[in-house]
Amino acid sequence: MTRPRILALAGSSRRESLARRLAQACVEPLSEAGAVVELIELGDYPMPLYNGDLERESGLPATAAALQRELHGSDGLLVVNPEYNGSITPLLKNTLDWCSRPNPEDEARSGGAVFAGRAAAVLATSPGPMGGMRVLFHVRDILGYLGMHVIPQQLGVGNAGGAFAADGRLANERQQGMLEATLQSLATTAARLAPESR
Ligand SMILES: Cc1cc2nc3c(=O)[nH]c(=O)nc-3n(C[C@H](O)[C@H](O)[C@H](O)COP(=O)(O)O)c2cc1C
Repeated sequence: MTRPRILALAGSSRRESLARRLAQACVEPLSEAGAVVELIELGDYPMPLYNGDLERESGLPATAAALQRELHGSDGLLVVNPEYNGSITPLLKNTLDWCSRPNPEDEARSGGAVFAGRAAAVLATSPGPMGGMRVLFHVRDILGYLGMHVIPQQLGVGNAGGAFAADGRLANERQQGMLEATLQSLATTAARLAPESR
């Protein structure tokens, strides 16, 4: 089977982000599951808050076009979410909104084409006991709207301040096993959906 290329990102650019720590904990299991993983940092793709006037006057920010190319070249997306008031972060929503816009200068690698038909998985983490479970349904819905095939497995890691062992893995072995199973499913689904040409 093809080695699928998975883009992994956290919905927070905070220096000590717990979501980033969880995204980092996914890299090794994903690559053991057969994927080629690229962990990207949304802070490296700064974008202004979406505004239609701005888009009409200036087109897409170069950062949005660059991220669209990354998404287009991937077979799957792993989104690790903090939970803000039960939902997704403005950083993530703004990034997805810009990336969903067509770019007249690169039509094939912009708009819906960068998401549609690809695999996705959603994870959440929070310092609270619920692990950000509520955001999972929102982000799953948005990615599905964008045409992604969001796998059914998902995981919310609660009490995240103490959830990571010194080696970066989840300290709770059962939870680590659930994480690995989810990532295996993402890699398998992404490989199945990957076109021969990618
Ligand atoms: C505006 C805002 C809303 C929040 N709402 C929730 C929430 O609904 N549920 C929750 O578990 N934590 C909530 N939190 C706490 C975040 O889970 C916590 O700040 C977390 O560390 C942020 O993710 P990060 O560490 O990846 O940056 C909220 C934090 C902020 C700033």
